[in-house]
Amino acid sequence: MIEINKTRIYKKGGDLLTKNPYTKKYEKIDPRHSKLAAAVKKGLSQTGIKENSRVLYLGASHGYTPGHVSNIVGKGGLVFCVENSVVVARDLVLLCKEKSNMHPLIFSADKPGDYKDRLVGVDVVYQDVAQKNQVGIFLKNLGLVKKGGFGLLALKARSYDVSKKPGVVFKEVLKELEKETNVVDFKLLDPYEKDHAFYVVKKK
Ligand SMILES: C[S@@+](CC[C@H](N)C(=O)[O-])C[C@H]1O[C@@H](n2cnc3c(N)ncnc32)[C@H](O)[C@@H]1O
Repeated sequence: MIEINKTRIYKKGGDLLTKNPYTKKYEKIDPRHSKLAAAVKKGLSQTGIKENSRVLYLGASHGYTPGHVSNIVGKGGLVFCVENSVVVARDLVLLCKEKSNMHPLIFSADKPGDYKDRLVGVDVVYQDVAQKNQVGIFLKNLGLVKKGGFGLLALKARSYDVSKKPGVVFKEVLKELEKETNVVDFKLLDPYEKDHAFYVVKKK
């Protein structure tokens, strides 16, 4: 088993795995279900998520990737899971009951002021929300991250602007992010996710 680029995501044969600190078992993370795994599979150089990191996760959904992020940060880390759909958050809340390093926050990521007081010392913001104002939401939440912390953005081109070609959107977003952050990596997520890109930025 080999750790990929110090991400605490491991490769065994064709599979990617993270280690659950509660059960001590390795769990498969599928690049077709997780943009984080897809980006790592595509050769992402770094995620900024380490053991004991505190991660603000936006668009937590049922908890698939957040559960793996909880494995990556371990028992000493924290994952604040923001999700605005009460229906999908049901599974998320159950998962958070099983794993004490995960905390559900049923809020809109568009209004970080509503949940900022529930956070403590965030090292990394991870966003996967497929909204028109994805970049604006990301930059607002990056404001909650410590100086020098990381931001990971999974971007869906069609949600950002359906009238533009994905390649045009990806360049436009890169420019937007470069104005306010240091962009340290960028990967296209095909063939795992069509018309999606993944950006890694460091807060200035
Ligand atoms: C593509 S899914 C996320 C999948 C998840 N990141 C994973 O890999 O397991 C996007 C999620 O973002 C949520 N979402 C969309 N807009 C949001 C917002 N403004 N605030 C919080 N969650 C939002 C949706 O309800 C949906 O559950």
